Amino acid sequence: MTSNPYPLGLRLHGRRVVVVGGGAVATRRVPALLDAGADVLLVAPELTPALRARADAGRLHWVRRRFVPEDLDGAWLVQVAVDDPIAAASVSAVAAERRIFCVRADDRTAATAWTPAVTRHGPVTVAVLGGGDPRRAMTVRDAIRDLLAVRLAPDGIAGRPDASTGTTGGQQAGRVALVGAGPGDPELITVKGWRLLTEADVVVADRLVPGLLLDELRPDVELVDASKIPYGPSRAQEEINQILVDRALAGAFVVRLKGGDPYVFGRGGEELLACAAAGVPVTVVPGVTSSIAAPAAAGIPVTHRGVAHEFTVVSGHLAPDAPASLVRWDALAGLHGTLVILMGLKNLAAITATLIAHGRSPQTPAAVVQEATTGTQRVLRSTLGAVAADLKAADLRPPAVVVVGDVVGALDG
Ligand SMILES: C[S@@+](CC[C@H](N)C(=O)[O-])C[C@H]1O[C@@H](n2cnc3c(N)ncnc32)[C@H](O)[C@@H]1O
Repeated sequence: MTSNPYPLGLRLHGRRVVVVGGGAVATRRVPALLDAGADVLLVAPELTPALRARADAGRLHWVRRRFVPEDLDGAWLVQVAVDDPIAAASVSAVAAERRIFCVRADDRTAATAWTPAVTRHGPVTVAVLGGGDPRRAMTVRDAIRDLLAVRLAPDGIAGRPDASTGTTGGQQAGRVALVGAGPGDPELITVKGWRLLTEADVVVADRLVPGLLLDELRPDVELVDASKIPYGPSRAQEEINQILVDRALAGAFVVRLKGGDPYVFGRGGEELLACAAAGVPVTVVPGVTSSIAAPAAAGIPVTHRGVAHEFTVVSGHLAPDAPASLVRWDALAGLHGTLVILMGLKNLAAITATLIAHGRSPQTPAAVVQEATTGTQRVLRSTLGAVAADLKAADLRPPAVVVVGDVVGALDG
């Protein structure tokens, strides 16, 4: 087929899109479909943990089996994200019979629709098709993105890469960048973090990183889903450290993409030490942490003149009476300022009871912000005395940040 493709912006809100396959390609493609409001039906015997988390959260429908023709009932679009060419061809044959456009990851020439390389800037979406050559599309997309980023950056910090951060392409010694991806909105990654991400040969991503960032990676980038690594948390961390070191020693530029800031309850320090021990150079790119961004997204400043002169960020993943806890909850109860609790939902009843028992007033305003800065953000406002019960009643779930202090009402009219 030699004729030019006809570009369109599909308005998928509430419309059924069927994705066949639950692996790495689907993991990259599904976030953009959900962002467009599509009613996604995912057909696959197995899912990656990132997709599984979206299915568990009710963001998409998952049927755990192989494709059958009836899956396309009511569909407006099909994305075939399986490697097996025979399986892919059979899905696209059914799609063609029913006049449904079909994107194929395995064979662009057999597809009736192509996904463009995309860069998003607020309400503007730039989509580039490279005449069947995805690399050409990515190169043009990157140039346009850089141009738009420079225009948006007041002091030109989005400018050209410096010599020490060029892609390795396997020819130079490898290195690692620990990059904070921000709290959820893909536009909240830093300009530097984004630039390094576009230069990466390998991306090792956490479950909480914004899915839309992964959607924009070049197709040849190796994406390692760190939440998929088996074993318990400490063994899994060792495995991640090893992956970073091994890939870098093999000459790759590895971006370790972490939710929020890499050093705020992110185990970034352990990864840096592991790389340093192996002689692998590391760049750390701070990120916008949820401990500040989540309150902000709910209209709560963590400090406010005349209201709070300090804020304390604390992990609530261990109960106050847990022998391994390093937090002096009794001392925190004596502070007047803002307390921001991460990973605290499970132990919230015990935490609030301890703070009250040590003197913080049960009337202190409190708020919970779930999935902050994303399209599914939820906010609950309450008091220290009632927040644990209110949270249950409202069925709020992780990831969420709890804010305690008078700042919670500081900007209310
Ligand atoms: C392991 S910690 C990592 C924190 C991350 N490094 C940061 O700086 O935001 C994970 C916790 O961060 C908080 N969190 C991360 N993203 C969030 C979001 N978008 N909305 C609310 N809380 C979030 C939740 O408390 C979650 O349990």
